[in-house]
Amino acid sequence: MKPKLVISTGAGMSAESGIATFRDAGGLWEQYPVMEVASADGFARNPGLVHEFYNRRRRELVKAQPNAGHYGLVDLERNYDVYIITQNVDNLHERAGSSHVLHLHGELMKVRALDNEQLVYELSGDNLDTTPTTLIEGHHVRPHIVFFQEAVPNIEPAIKLVEQADVFVVIGTSLNVYPAAGLLHYVRPGIQVYYIDPNPATVPANVHLIKMGAGRGVAELKKQLDHQ
Ligand code: OAD
Repeated sequence: MKPKLVISTGAGMSAESGIATFRDAGGLWEQYPVMEVASADGFARNPGLVHEFYNRRRRELVKAQPNAGHYGLVDLERNYDVYIITQNVDNLHERAGSSHVLHLHGELMKVRALDNEQLVYELSGDNLDTTPTTLIEGHHVRPHIVFFQEAVPNIEPAIKLVEQADVFVVIGTSLNVYPAAGLLHYVRPGIQVYYIDPNPATVPANVHLIKMGAGRGVAELKKQLDHQ
């Protein structure tokens, strides 16, 4: 059986694909008021603004391509059972070819019915924009995104994965947003933990830091895992 490699990714994973991060200089939360475009209260106050924010991000995403880091994680599947837990709402891990991707904060290319959250619809082609009056199969829809002030339904399966990890890797996150940032605390004692980020947050001393961008960092991770 292959060892289980569990990888938690954040916005930095997709930075080299041209998708802006949130908290770096010039990041999205400098350009947009976060609580207006990404919170449950903001959506209740001004749904049109929130739809427009995610419409823009969808148009950006369809033009973007997975980067060397995304593809490097696919390569690791040769020697490991790789499970990705991502805070990202983009679909670049899937488009690169990763087999197991769990989204903690929702998915940009999906919307769901306001009156029944089980009804999730995938957007595609020319049909990327939604507004408060858009109807899909007779339902008004909202972005399939976990807004601030909402629960994170996938945190339970994510914790289970981290508890089973033989190696745990964190890539490109400022570790500011909980519960995702807390996943690090669920690893079994003594396992190898790596953190790839050019400007890393403070982490426990036992974490191996790879102070690089995702593309080069994943290549370096591979080298270090091969020599483990
Ligand atoms: P942040 O924008 O907070 O952090 C981005 C991280 O990526 C920083 O630590 C950067 O140093 C790092 N970084 C920048 N360029 C990189 C590169 N080329 N390679 C690797 N890392 C790089 O993004 P997140 O931590 O993902 O949630 O933010 C968490 C959540 O906050 C997001 O999922 C989003 C946001 O509000 C929601 O909208 C619900």
